[in-house]
Amino acid sequence: MAFVRRAIEGGARSVIDFGGGASRLVDRLLDEQLERVAVLDVSSRALAAASERLGARAGAVHWILGDATELEDVGSFEVWHDRAVFHFLVAEDDRGRYLKLMERTVPTGGFVIVATFGLDGPERCSGLDVRRYDPALLSGELGGAFEILEDLARTHLTPRGIEQRFTYAMFRRV
Ligand SMILES: C[S@@+](CC[C@H](N)C(=O)[O-])C[C@H]1O[C@@H](n2cnc3c(N)ncnc32)[C@H](O)[C@@H]1O
Repeated sequence: MAFVRRAIEGGARSVIDFGGGASRLVDRLLDEQLERVAVLDVSSRALAAASERLGARAGAVHWILGDATELEDVGSFEVWHDRAVFHFLVAEDDRGRYLKLMERTVPTGGFVIVATFGLDGPERCSGLDVRRYDPALLSGELGGAFEILEDLARTHLTPRGIEQRFTYAMFRRV
């Protein structure tokens, strides 16, 4: 939220949460000065859980069911947020399609906030392989179209009490 608020202070008024799942981030986004909020996920069950939790407020959210590696167009958003999705893209082709979609979605001056497992984070999650990143590796993936503004390391405690080391990074489209 600190990174999202920094983007709002920088003029952003639209946010898409990529792979938002049933996360409560959307609840917080609805309290901010935003004109458009979208949550995208490949799981209809996750979107339904978030929508049911929000009740009447769910109508203010644009819910997008789709695979981040297959979608051609999700519209334009000034903030692209992804916590714990990009690190599941272990195939180079999948990352390439995801990053192309990011470039089509975020206009010049827009922001990208990505959180992945850190280099000292888990090697697998939910039975799936992951790729781990530090800020420099993330910058390398996003390429020259995005400059890094800030990064931080955070320890996430899972509902089962397991610690996971994350790398958070905020970028601006140049
Ligand atoms: C580990 S959860 C993270 C959920 C949320 N972002 C959070 O931080 O709490 C990963 C989410 O990404 C979704 N997901 C995984 N692969 C995806 C893809 N290719 N396209 C869209 N969503 C995907 C999953 O359904 C799941 O909801």
